[in-house]
Amino acid sequence: MAWHIFSFLILSSCVARYAGGAAVDSSTTSIRDPANLVNLFIGTTKGGHTFPGATLPHGMLKVGPDTNSPDNHAGYDANPIWNFVGFSQMHDDGTGGSPPLSNFKLWPFQSCGQSDEFEQCTTSLSTRSVPRKVLSNGLPDDTAEPGYFSTNLSTSIRVELTATRKVALHKYTFPAGTQNPRILLDLTDDGQRSGRNPVMELDPATGRIKGDASFAASFGVGGYNAYACVDFKGDGFQLGAPKEFGGWVDDSPVKNVTNANQLQFFSGSQVGAMLTFTPRRIGPTSILARVGVSFISADQACSNAEQEISTFDFNHVRSAARAEWNDLLGRIQVKTDDVDPEIVSLFYSSVYRTHISPADYSGENPRWDSTEPYYDSLYCNWDTYRTLYSFMALHDPVNFARIVRGMINIQQHEGWLPECRGATDQQWVQGGSNGDPILGEFFVKFHEHAAALNVSGDALYTALLRDAEEQPQDWDLQGRQANDWKTFGFLPFDRSTGGGSNTRHVSRALEYAFDDFAISQVAKILNKTDDAAKYARRAGNYINNWNATTVVPGRENIVGMMQLRLSNGSFAFTDPRHCSVNDPTHSTCFLDSNNHDGFYESSPIVYSQYVPQDTAKLILLQGGNQKFIDRLNFIFEENYFDSTDEPSQQIPFMYHYANRPGLSTQTSRQVIAQFYNTSTNGLPGNDDSGAMGSYVAFYLAGLYPLPATRQFLLSSPYFPEISFFNPIFGTTTTIRAKNFNGNPKDGTGGTVFVRSVKIDGELWKSNCFIEWDAFIHGSTIDLELTDDINMTCGEGADSLPPSLSTGGYD
Ligand SMILES: *[C@@H]1O[C@H](CO)[C@@H](O)[C@H](O)[C@H]1NC(C)=O
Ligand SMILES: *[C@@H]1O[C@H](CO)[C@@H](O)[C@H](O)[C@H]1NC(C)=O
Ligand SMILES: *[C@@H]1O[C@H](CO)[C@@H](O)[C@H](O)[C@H]1NC(C)=O
Ligand SMILES: *[C@@H]1O[C@H](CO)[C@@H](O)[C@H](O)[C@H]1NC(C)=O
Ligand SMILES: *[C@@H]1O[C@H](CO)[C@@H](O)[C@H](O)[C@H]1NC(C)=O
Ligand SMILES: *[C@@H]1O[C@H](CO)[C@@H](O)[C@H](O)[C@H]1NC(C)=O
Ligand SMILES: *[C@@H]1O[C@H](CO)[C@@H](O)[C@H](O)[C@H]1NC(C)=O
Ligand SMILES: *[C@@H]1O[C@H](CO)[C@@H](O)[C@H](O)[C@H]1NC(C)=O
Repeated sequence: MAWHIFSFLILSSCVARYAGGAAVDSSTTSIRDPANLVNLFIGTTKGGHTFPGATLPHGMLKVGPDTNSPDNHAGYDANPIWNFVGFSQMHDDGTGGSPPLSNFKLWPFQSCGQSDEFEQCTTSLSTRSVPRKVLSNGLPDDTAEPGYFSTNLSTSIRVELTATRKVALHKYTFPAGTQNPRILLDLTDDGQRSGRNPVMELDPATGRIKGDASFAASFGVGGYNAYACVDFKGDGFQLGAPKEFGGWVDDSPVKNVTNANQLQFFSGSQVGAMLTFTPRRIGPTSILARVGVSFISADQACSNAEQEISTFDFNHVRSAARAEWNDLLGRIQVKTDDVDPEIVSLFYSSVYRTHISPADYSGENPRWDSTEPYYDSLYCNWDTYRTLYSFMALHDPVNFARIVRGMINIQQHEGWLPECRGATDQQWVQGGSNGDPILGEFFVKFHEHAAALNVSGDALYTALLRDAEEQPQDWDLQGRQANDWKTFGFLPFDRSTGGGSNTRHVSRALEYAFDDFAISQVAKILNKTDDAAKYARRAGNYINNWNATTVVPGRENIVGMMQLRLSNGSFAFTDPRHCSVNDPTHSTCFLDSNNHDGFYESSPIVYSQYVPQDTAKLILLQGGNQKFIDRLNFIFEENYFDSTDEPSQQIPFMYHYANRPGLSTQTSRQVIAQFYNTSTNGLPGNDDSGAMGSYVAFYLAGLYPLPATRQFLLSSPYFPEISFFNPIFGTTTTIRAKNFNGNPKDGTGGTVFVRSVKIDGELWKSNCFIEWDAFIHGSTIDLELTDDINMTCGEGADSLPPSLSTGGYD
């Protein structure tokens, strides 16, 4: 989802330091340390809500700093006016809702009060917060790289963080002279202060603290329990038993308490534990804190910790994390001659964010036992189905397969595929059953390897049919409003059917149509011919919401819009400008129950372009190629294109279907130039669990996906050469831009338009799309570029990208 932030101060020049630099060895050898090109601070102001802390690819733990910023959805805010309040263990990346998963904060005190006593520590969230250290250039003293984060607090304590999959390792270095280094554990604050029923058990001999509480979902009605197990060790010295210990409630530390039931607190109280250690005699004191987390039990949190980090070797954990990132990122290689280093960094940073969510919670599912993988933080499929999994397909099919297995396993236990799962709980469905195109994408691209990847085609197909055919009790949490969809072929807006919110009828219907398209694609592969035809027909239901005479007020040349429909077949009118920056009523269109205008998070104008399965037909509905191009131009010229929100993502590439691929190339490059860069405000809105990261990565690679098909739309890469290694096929696919001549800074013009394509030396039929086969075989794809924006897709009838009505997708 996008989360529109209107009223927030931005430090547009605030670029915190990152570990970028000269990691590109040279243009002829490979990039060996792509982690060094990742800037984790992109999108950490202005509502990008990105997570800059330490994690593994799809790691459950995402350990990072938490601020008191209103934009602390991932904890951090690059703007140093916001103080730190703790260093918590989980987080999400780029979400809206309430701040999720900022559980089990640790917090170091350099000293407490005038006489530095335990009872004088200010323990509550608001009183313990301290300013960050700000450098002379105005930036916070923060560093981040894949698998590592560090900061210096204004109390001169240095904080360093790293992680394995389920365990975080913190290092707190107290300045020399610190008499009473203290570390607090916060059990109740999860970012939204929802923790209730805190449990705490402290062992004074070892300093081990076990704790848990129950917490509320961030974007739903449910909740979850989470458990932590914290152990401490001196870095380079014997720490010994803590010299003081106890608990705390709000701003009252209580010495010698070893159990939460010895504390007096109320529902809503802040509760935790605190320890004081004996400092090193000479020099600074570094204390390591290992935090195991579990969704099952505190004992499991301890065993996770012992298994994954037995020796507290900070540098080892940190370099193992970086090596894992390098293995994943290094499967994509680019040549960088004539490429602005900022673009190289933007690319690898975007690829990086494709691999934060979903998170691998295998072994931590509290709801049922299974040996299948369990992935969580699908926050939400509505955001990610368009581009994230298609990018994963290029270089990370094994994780993709595990995520699909996890989704199927959830369907088998809960009845329907998960949609917006977070913190082990069902959360709000935003649109269609958007898990369908994710499963479709997997099966269309990897069905020949499904058995090797342990994905059952039958189970996958059963899960899809469930979404398509059976209406759950509450289609706000899973599945779809299937009954009306099957009866009417659209979602009549005058029927109060119960079972879910009576909103978003048009946008949901358009997505149901695309979901059914994905199912038809899978049915075709399974030789279920009747089903394939049935769901292809249902994929055509988008047309039922098309009112051919609706115009944009004042723009009579823009004719035909997706509109609400009543059960008797009549249309209802929604102003096409609704929910855009040009909406005269400034209405919103989030999940609020007042949204009765049929559309979710984007205008009818944007949704009237959303028929990715049959753009050829959409062009006919809109009056042919020239009118279609005029409409696309209108969308950009009048700011209907919404860079912050996913329904607009394909629009810049749609000129392809009107045989004007040069316009797609130029428009997509203008979008990158205008909205995406490596600054902390270089994301126009929420990253949405990597939805925006994967989208930018595709644009920079010169490709755009259509999930559940074997085609990619083709443009020119921002690099003279880009290659993808796919470990399932064991092949490397290389796209070379023969006469590459750099990228125009503002995206306009340049020698960037595709004139011809050769695949493995053979002239290819289209300048507008390539086939998945090229990625299976590990082909070399040679593009010849020109500065002529007027190039077409090619001469033949099969040079245009496929659409359902022009023969379909084979
Ligand atoms: C913090 O201070 C240490 C020691 O002075 C220094 O080495 C480090 O670069 C500083 N910055 C960060 C982000 O750790
Ligand atoms: C805590 O325990 C220590 C050691 O047994 C004792 O000296 C001290 O008085 C106790 N403090 C409180 C506040 O109970
Ligand atoms: C598939 O399952 C088998 C048997 O459980 C296992 O040995 C193998 O590693 C799995 N393969 C993948 C790719 O998960
Ligand atoms: C579908 O039919 C084709 C052609 O007869 C065959 O090669 C393929 O194995 C069949 N696939 C399945 C899943 O039965
Ligand atoms: C459909 O119902 C609406 C609202 O009751 C009504 O205004 C309209 O005239 C009806 N259309 C037809 C074709 O009966
Ligand atoms: C389209 O909607 C308008 C009202 O906005 C209505 O007058 C017109 O009849 C509708 N078109 C069709 C084909 O029903
Ligand atoms: C980065 O992009 C944002 C828009 O997303 C823009 O406001 C900002 O000026 C850009 N910064 C630079 C340095 O280009
Ligand atoms: C592309 O077409 C436009 C409009 O027909 C024309 O003005 C322009 O010169 C052409 N560009 C090139 C490079 O031929």
